[in-house]
Amino acid sequence: METFDLVVIGGGPAGYLTAERAGHAGLKTLVIEKREFGGVCLNEGCVPSKTFLNSAKVMDYANHSANYGVKVGGKVSIDQKFVVERKNGVVKMLVSGIKAQLKRNKVTMKSAEAYIEGKDAEGYIVKAGDEKYIAKRLMIATGSMPVVPPITGLKEGIDSGLVLTNREILDLTSIPEKLVVIGGGVIGLEMASYFSSVGSKVTVVEMLDKIAGPTEKEVSAILQKTMERKGVVFNLGCKVTGIEKDGVVFERNGKTEKVPADKILLSIGRRAVTKDIGLENIGVNLERGAVVTDDAMRTNVANVYAAGDVNGKIMLAHTAYREAEVAVNNMVGKKDRMRYNVIPSVIYTNPEVGSVGETEESAKQKGLDVKTVSIPLTYSGRYVAENTELDGICKLVVNKATNTLIGAHIIGSYAGEYIVAVSAMIDLEVDIENIKKLVFPHPTVCEIVREAIFQI
Ligand code: NAI
Repeated sequence: METFDLVVIGGGPAGYLTAERAGHAGLKTLVIEKREFGGVCLNEGCVPSKTFLNSAKVMDYANHSANYGVKVGGKVSIDQKFVVERKNGVVKMLVSGIKAQLKRNKVTMKSAEAYIEGKDAEGYIVKAGDEKYIAKRLMIATGSMPVVPPITGLKEGIDSGLVLTNREILDLTSIPEKLVVIGGGVIGLEMASYFSSVGSKVTVVEMLDKIAGPTEKEVSAILQKTMERKGVVFNLGCKVTGIEKDGVVFERNGKTEKVPADKILLSIGRRAVTKDIGLENIGVNLERGAVVTDDAMRTNVANVYAAGDVNGKIMLAHTAYREAEVAVNNMVGKKDRMRYNVIPSVIYTNPEVGSVGETEESAKQKGLDVKTVSIPLTYSGRYVAENTELDGICKLVVNKATNTLIGAHIIGSYAGEYIVAVSAMIDLEVDIENIKKLVFPHPTVCEIVREAIFQI
């Protein structure tokens, strides 16, 4: 049995970055992946959905090109087969980049299903394919999978191909006439945005009375309004109770309704993958199905770490990246800890949403004394120059006691790109008076942050 300083189970963002950083730090590292390196994010999540959404953006521009003085001859249409092929090409390129990076950092890669058999005096024993390895340290990075609730007809719908998850929908080579999306969270909204732009009649059925879960209320209302303008129908406060061959059955105020569908997307959340990997053989603690970790990404078992969706904290690839780095730093004796209050989140709809930190509501729930300011993005020259639908806003939340930013919520072009600037201001606890002294390039949409700061 070959011994490694670190064996990483799972080759998604948490796993591959742990392996890369550990290899770079000089640890003899093995990463084991049963499907594709890059994980859900690269193969069937973040990256492929962005290739789709960029095609939708091009289509939106083409359909509204006259607003910009550009004439497009004939009817604009989508070549969905081409979109999927292009997506596959993008994924292939990026996966090979990750493998090259792992190789450069002297990480051993193994394509197999890993199982933790137990522990002996040397370390943890991990079986992968026909081989067994000894791991002085373990990183659990097995990710998450879609929640599939016990809804009547759902299993049959999945088996027949009527119901899709994020995995299958990104391989769809034709555009469904009627798409029903179950769940108005991030996956649901991004896919609703894509398919409505390229011609599907999209209906979203969401249990809560607002879309986009924890997103700031004003922002999610604007997102809903702009998506409705594109033809998306939202059934809010509606719980799905059944799947039939031709549609989705749901309850609204105790009454049963049905919406017809050619395809159905199931996007009601994800759960950590903790079964069948042998965690029980070494006594790793779970809570509500996820691995319990501290702020150094340690589990309750010595030298066993967990990062990414498997710990169920914040299921985002960039959280996983940072958790991976925190874990490796702690493995090699560098003090580091995770801070979850400044993790930005982006919804890549058109228009896109960027948010970080507290909303007015969440801050007040924590008993913080806050001031807020909300201004339209039309204060930005570049935003007005480049858009014809001008609904965007920037809302900032300031802690009165410290005179620092604690939250920002923006909807409009590039929001997902510049939200990181506000994350840095929050993380570094920069005083509002000092933010006023920062120079923003002009004309940019991110100048909106400067404008909003001066309105506080
Ligand atoms: P989600 O948790 O974002 O949204 C699920 C929605 O489904 C919730 O609004 C919930 O109220 C609703 N729901 C639950 N049961 C329902 C029922 N029976 N009927 C109707 N509605 C119901 O989960 P989603 O969209 O599946 O995404 C999974 C994960 O992937 C999330 O953690 C998300 O953060 C991540 N992700 C992030 C992206 C990004 O950052 N841009 C993109 C895609 C996914």
